[in-house]
Amino acid sequence: MKLNIRRKILAAAIATIAAASIALPLSAAAQSPIIIKYSHVVADQTPKGQAAQKFKELAEKALPGKVVVQVFPNSQLFGDGKEMEALALGDVQIIAPSLSKFGKYTPKLQIFDLPFLFNDIQAVDRFQASPSGQSLLNSMNKKGITGLGYLHNGMKVFSTTAPMNLPADAKGMKFRIQASDVLEAQFKAVGANPQKLAFAEVYQALQSGVVDGQENTWSNIYSKKFHEVQGFILDSNHGVIDYMVITNTKWWNGLPADIRKGLSQAMKESIAFGNQVAIKEAEAFKAKVIADNKAKVVEMTPASKAAWRKAMAPVVKKFEDEIGADLIKAAQNSNQ
Ligand code: LMR
Repeated sequence: MKLNIRRKILAAAIATIAAASIALPLSAAAQSPIIIKYSHVVADQTPKGQAAQKFKELAEKALPGKVVVQVFPNSQLFGDGKEMEALALGDVQIIAPSLSKFGKYTPKLQIFDLPFLFNDIQAVDRFQASPSGQSLLNSMNKKGITGLGYLHNGMKVFSTTAPMNLPADAKGMKFRIQASDVLEAQFKAVGANPQKLAFAEVYQALQSGVVDGQENTWSNIYSKKFHEVQGFILDSNHGVIDYMVITNTKWWNGLPADIRKGLSQAMKESIAFGNQVAIKEAEAFKAKVIADNKAKVVEMTPASKAAWRKAMAPVVKKFEDEIGADLIKAAQNSNQ
């Protein structure tokens, strides 16, 4: 009898231990936070850099212990040309490439590269908020990519080694461009020689003379010190560099509903914060470039702007079918 009772007690103890050993790792595993890698190619002080840090702060505050956001700036984790592949493979969860870098995924977003299409960042903002602009956030769904929102950087200016005021001055110059066919056509339209290069390679290419010039925003020019290896900046505002914050659709839809809700809210607020920074700090970055007194900054006169617009107008015509005349019209209307 006694033996029997002891055996039962022993069996019960063993069962309890077994259950605990199964439950413990499961709950521990269930409780371990979801790691979210947010990778980008620019410096922390830029609008995108600040927005990514803000997302980390807000997401971890809203979902304490449930998510950990790791931000990788300056192409530390993945650079241009690698980040989209990494997103598809699940090696990174959030990226925010320039709208110029989606040509392989949709022809529609090329609209943002058309020269002189938008008068200023406010027009870009209005177009992005419009039904047409919002519909483009889903333009890559078929490729397993979900657009979480638009993030501003700002209007672009030209920088060159030698002075450049009019389109004719660009003839024969080598320009670094983002991976965009529209930007390639834009420079060919003025007889220049465009070269697609990753952002991380721009400073070196300018310094070594592989290229004579490039186009970018004041925050990128200042934070990456392009003005230190360029003698001349034409304040053209001839186009925009903005971003789409994207995620992998499968990963995003696979998240628990409460996590996705918390992340969506954090993303919305961090984008709003980044857009404010972009609009508020654009002039401040320009002032820092001027204060450094390395590159000569020249305003584009109305006459020279008219000459550049005229020289680059065929580019809009060239891509009208691919992008869609209706979309271009909607963008032009956002200048009102
Ligand atoms: C560039 O390649 O010049 C920019 O798109 C980089 C960035 O993300 O602002």
